[in-house]
Amino acid sequence: MSRSVLISGGNRGIGLAIARHLAAAGDRVAVTYRSGEPPEGLFAVQCDITDTEQVDRAFGEVEKEHGPVEVLVANAGITKDQLLMRMSEDDFTSVLDTNLTGAFRLTKRASRAMLRAKKGRVVLISSAVGLRGESGQANYAASKAGLVGFARSMARELGSRGITFNVVAPGLTETSMSGQLSDEQLEGMKSQIPLGRLARPEEIAAAVAFLASDEASYITGAVVPVDGGAGMGH
Ligand SMILES: NC(=O)c1ccc[n+]([C@@H]2O[C@H](COP(=O)([O-])OP(=O)(O)OC[C@H]3O[C@@H](n4cnc5c(N)ncnc54)[C@H](OP(=O)(O)O)[C@@H]3O)[C@@H](O)[C@H]2O)c1
Repeated sequence: MSRSVLISGGNRGIGLAIARHLAAAGDRVAVTYRSGEPPEGLFAVQCDITDTEQVDRAFGEVEKEHGPVEVLVANAGITKDQLLMRMSEDDFTSVLDTNLTGAFRLTKRASRAMLRAKKGRVVLISSAVGLRGESGQANYAASKAGLVGFARSMARELGSRGITFNVVAPGLTETSMSGQLSDEQLEGMKSQIPLGRLARPEEIAAAVAFLASDEASYITGAVVPVDGGAGMGH
């Protein structure tokens, strides 16, 4: 199995773990990075997913190197946490623009070749916060909940063309994103998780790899929580 795979935000954290997992399984993996460094040993293209032209150019580079993208993992995302009263309109719209509209830009561009091939796998990285909400994260939760409606609409729209769309909703995971939390916040959150710890990025990657695999050929429109039981399946 060697498919052309593109992972947004694949230079660190969860995206890099997904990239390493799929590359180890034999796929031709490309990652996008924005401000950081490209990861060693992976084909990387620079791309800010808030810019449609950059998304188009990145796909062009990947297509030249690896062929049309067969598996898209829309992983890049940001937080700009703030209580509603202090949240600026830019805090809200910039998070939506990256997390939700960014996924739309990537999916739209990827669907061209997938429609031609009459097959494709799209996995969108949401968050447990998108399903249950979180104080101080109205922008982030709205963007991540939006991915569920987006994926399910796509699953209906393009299911007959052999393209599946699924969502992975990680709980708190050991990356620089969760590193922004204080020890006190982390302890409070861990106490709500039946498995009593944060996820490792590799554990999110394993779920993504399954949904992107042939074994998951009859799964579409699903939301798979990988959250240590925090949401009990929701
Ligand atoms: N960590 C958690 O606890 C957790 C829990 C649930 C869901 N998630 C979700 O999982 C995904 C990955 O999170 P993570 O924890 O691995 O985050 P991370 O370590 O902060 O990495 C975020 C990635 O997104 C990229 N990115 C951000 N804005 C971008 C933009 N405008 N254009 C292109 N790339 C952009 C970053 O690129 P640069 O490094 O180049 O800036 C980086 O590669 C995110 O969607 C996040 O919301 C994370």
